[in-house]
Amino acid sequence: MTTDICPVRIGVGGYDIHIGEGLLEQAGAMLAPRLARPFTVIVTDRHVDRAQGDRLEQGLAAAGVDFRKVVLEPGEHAKSLRSLEGLLEELIDFGVERRDMILAFGGGVVGDLTGFAAAILRRGCRFAQIPTTLLAQVDSAVGGKTAVNSAKGKNLIGAFHQPAIVIADITALTTLPGRELKAGYAEIVKYGALGDEPFFAWLEKRGGDLLAGDAAARRVAVKRSCESKAEIVGADERETGVRALLNLGHTFGHALEASLGYSDRLLHGEAVAAGMALAFDFSVYRRNCPPADAARLKAHLAAVGLPAGLKDISGAPQFSADELLARMMQDKKVEGGALTLILLRRLGEAFIEKDVDAATILEFLKSAGAR
Ligand code: GLY
Repeated sequence: MTTDICPVRIGVGGYDIHIGEGLLEQAGAMLAPRLARPFTVIVTDRHVDRAQGDRLEQGLAAAGVDFRKVVLEPGEHAKSLRSLEGLLEELIDFGVERRDMILAFGGGVVGDLTGFAAAILRRGCRFAQIPTTLLAQVDSAVGGKTAVNSAKGKNLIGAFHQPAIVIADITALTTLPGRELKAGYAEIVKYGALGDEPFFAWLEKRGGDLLAGDAAARRVAVKRSCESKAEIVGADERETGVRALLNLGHTFGHALEASLGYSDRLLHGEAVAAGMALAFDFSVYRRNCPPADAARLKAHLAAVGLPAGLKDISGAPQFSADELLARMMQDKKVEGGALTLILLRRLGEAFIEKDVDAATILEFLKSAGAR
């Protein structure tokens, strides 16, 4: 079976994203020549370990790579300073050296935590991203953002630290719960919405198949998403400019997630979907974007069962516009107290709008159903 390779041109030499089916079994052979010695540590969570762990471990053993394993409890709470400390101590106990490569094997939580541990262990060791969720394969495993959460907010403590390689095995998605798959799909829609209308049109045709399990459609979408992300982060690793476009839907979305206490009521990808709908509607409200484009985006989100507005969020919570605005003001893109938002000129063309007027957002949120 062939493997697609998507290069990421960052720093010295950059790295490749390998996309294909059955790659976990081959990961040992792919990694072995890149290791300083035939030794690694797998960092994963209990769910991924149970569903996919044997596939990776057999591949490592077959390639003669000795390994240790750290199995975290699944969930966002693993992205804490406390669990970072525990992980670092275990890596030190295992004798991980600076030139070793550790493996982040799982979804966004495992990738962000392990990447940050790799960034600071012995002032920086190497790591590989082996993402097993759709969201991680198309977004969080690519581009080198690593972080843990502070009690005061998500991802506030972290570093840019690029992986040495990314191995995205489409086969791993077969054991992913449907709701998580759909949440990851929102990040795929994001690439079409922000800069690639033909890809969006493809998703309108094939998105349903992708979600229903069509491996070929999954592979095309993961590859195209990774290519888009690689181009953007290659141009702006540290988010001083164009990388901010990847936050389309995220400022509204994070405010929704925070208002619901980062609970299961709204997964991150679901919040991004609702946030994109709000970003499109706000762009229409400000007369930046044709209403038909916002309607098209929302129709696709609704067609695949993702929230396309506040009213679609499960349990139909009553959001307070003042609270949402206050939460939006916690965004990492706030500069000198002014909000930056990613808005649309049309579907497939996002732009960065600095200094967005807070009173206009408040009016808009009320018109969109907040009280
Ligand atoms: N997920 C947004 C970024 O990597 O920049």
